[in-house]
Amino acid sequence: MRASVFCGTSVDGFIARRDDALDFLPDDGGEPHGFDEFFASVDVLVIGRRTFEKVMTFDAWPYGDKRVVVLSHGDVDLKRLAAFPVAVMAGAPADILERLEADGASHAYIDGGLTIQSFLRAGLIQTLTVTRVPVLIGDGIPLFGSLPQDLRLRHVCTTSYASGLVKSEYEVLIAP
Ligand SMILES: NC(=O)c1ccc[n+]([C@@H]2O[C@H](COP(=O)([O-])OP(=O)(O)OC[C@H]3O[C@@H](n4cnc5c(N)ncnc54)[C@H](OP(=O)(O)O)[C@@H]3O)[C@@H](O)[C@H]2O)c1
Repeated sequence: MRASVFCGTSVDGFIARRDDALDFLPDDGGEPHGFDEFFASVDVLVIGRRTFEKVMTFDAWPYGDKRVVVLSHGDVDLKRLAAFPVAVMAGAPADILERLEADGASHAYIDGGLTIQSFLRAGLIQTLTVTRVPVLIGDGIPLFGSLPQDLRLRHVCTTSYASGLVKSEYEVLIAP
């Protein structure tokens, strides 16, 4: 089972403002930078409850028929999404991935700040793709957080785009 991260941040490392605004990110994800290809490669999207709540403010459900798992210890109202394959789960990151693998998934896309951090802490992310948007916002919801030990990365490639986006892909190396 592979698990990957693919997200956009300000140059100072924030994925959203404190009030969840995403206005500093380009509309519609900006210049094409490989998201569609990445999204096509995953068979399940695992998002934190706070990211789910933000997505529910969008005009339309953006994930189509892709299987989506919302992580929450509480109640999540999925009534408006009856037509889509969305479920709620809770548990340790390793258990979540085990359950998804037992259900036939082989590549999970992990999204949401705290959620990404918990999967990184558990050593469960293999690929990390961060696209930096050329802006500093000073404060916000961070992509990264504390770790029990360093997580060494292997730089795979960096691509810069005319609009100023800089996408870097890393492989997470197994901690020594
Ligand atoms: N720039 C980008 O690419 C990007 C990408 C994704 C998200 N975002 C933004 O990031 C913000 C949200 O990030 P965030 O760090 O605040 O939160 P988050 O990771 O989206 O959600 C955190 C919540 O997820 C639930 N959760 C996480 N792991 C769990 C587990 N193992 N078991 C059960 N529940 C679990 C908990 O919900 P409960 O409290 O309900 O238990 C927790 O409070 C939003 O503004 C979103 O728009 C930006």
